[in-house]
Amino acid sequence: MKEYGIYINGKWVPSESGQVFETVSPIDGKVLATFPKGTAGDVHRAIDAAEAAFPMWKRTPAPKRGEILLRAAQLMRQYKQELGELVTSEMGKVIAEGKGDVQEAIDFMEYISGEGRRMLGETTPSELPNKFCMTLRQPIGVVGCITPWNFPMAIPTWKIGAALISGNTIVFKPSSLTPLCVARLIEILEEAGLPPGVINYVTGGGGSVGMEIVKNPRVKAISFTGGVPTGREIYAAAAQHLKPVELELGGKNPQIVMEDANFDLAIEGVLFGAFGTAGQRCTATSRLIIHEPVYDEVLGRLIERTRNFKIGNPLDPRIDVGPVADQGQRDSIMEYIEIGRGEANLALGGEQCTGGEYDKGYYIQPTIFETEHGSRISKEEIFGPVLSVIKAKDFEDAVRIANDIEYGLSSSIYTRDVNLAFRAVDMLETGITYINAPTIGAEVHLPFGGTKNTGNGGREAGTSAIDEFTEIKTVFVDYSNRLQKAQIVDEL
Ligand code: UN1
Repeated sequence: MKEYGIYINGKWVPSESGQVFETVSPIDGKVLATFPKGTAGDVHRAIDAAEAAFPMWKRTPAPKRGEILLRAAQLMRQYKQELGELVTSEMGKVIAEGKGDVQEAIDFMEYISGEGRRMLGETTPSELPNKFCMTLRQPIGVVGCITPWNFPMAIPTWKIGAALISGNTIVFKPSSLTPLCVARLIEILEEAGLPPGVINYVTGGGGSVGMEIVKNPRVKAISFTGGVPTGREIYAAAAQHLKPVELELGGKNPQIVMEDANFDLAIEGVLFGAFGTAGQRCTATSRLIIHEPVYDEVLGRLIERTRNFKIGNPLDPRIDVGPVADQGQRDSIMEYIEIGRGEANLALGGEQCTGGEYDKGYYIQPTIFETEHGSRISKEEIFGPVLSVIKAKDFEDAVRIANDIEYGLSSSIYTRDVNLAFRAVDMLETGITYINAPTIGAEVHLPFGGTKNTGNGGREAGTSAIDEFTEIKTVFVDYSNRLQKAQIVDEL
């Protein structure tokens, strides 16, 4: 077991607190590593290092920055098996998905490294003769990245890759449930040749480390993925300095199944969408909205398929569902299951798995409730393997139910009617809509994010990732050799 420090200016050093915490596997409670409980003072040291490295990193041509990121992607490819096992061991998703998490990180690093040779601005004609107009992108400065535990490789990489290609330097705080995954990512960046100070890593609590990153005026922008209450707190605190904030928050994502759908496909989709990563994705399918004429058939077949799911050690490739991330997650999911028992019809599951190996970790049965739209379990984000099934009278009713929610990340509809599919694209109020595919499955070269309480309008991934981490500079070059007055020239 390794005892890590915090990472400041290219070195792993102790925190000034002298205190550490353990990162523990939710599979069996094994301690994987220890990390420091960082302090505001540690964050200050991290900012000092990031500020000192910024002029050098800003001057480094973007294609050269891209070369380092591409090398990091190649190393991650080389270490994919080890990294996938690490993701699975530290947060509990099944090994195929652990490796998928790593692949998503590789994909993004490869994609964004190429952005170093684009980083496009605009050129446009001027309204005046002998004058040239363009925009270019400049880094913001020291940026703060704060990440969750559910995609402990992919989400950190989305933020790190976009911030670094744009020329920013970083102060990074991971979720305290998965500091080891990000520590490995930092070791890989170092191995790929990232200069000291460009990324700095402080582990510890949200109140101490996270809030200091958000509130410190020397940190010029924040990117955060996590829960809505924390997102609100961050947005409010950053507003004091009018600091740009990128928020990726919750979801309560619907999958609609119409009477003309391919049911086998729709059921495969909801199984993966609802119970993949034990439901702990912001894009998880947490509501299945079934068209009335086929409700009984689709629900019946779904229950039969879910009943056969194998729950257990996620490192075993035969397992379908692993543990949830920790005791806190387990307790809050079980609380929601209790609420569901009071207000809805439990169709399957609803219990913790106990006995033998199960007692060492946090295992919950995939759970299906039949419920009315409007119940608490149908409206609140549970972040676990719990699916609410809701009946809809027709297409309009299904879309109304899908939209009557405070979140807007992802949505899906299964239908073979092309007209309905396109109407759904128009009408569903989410940042991402899938046709005949589950609510998960984002690809890194397209924007990722949502409407309503899912965020504040920004999008990660794709080229929009660059928008979050650059300032636009508008440039006018006048080569007329005389004073030309825009707007108040009446003859040319
Ligand atoms: C998240 O759930 O926090 O499409 C990110 C998906 C993944 C990304 C999810 N590729 O669900």
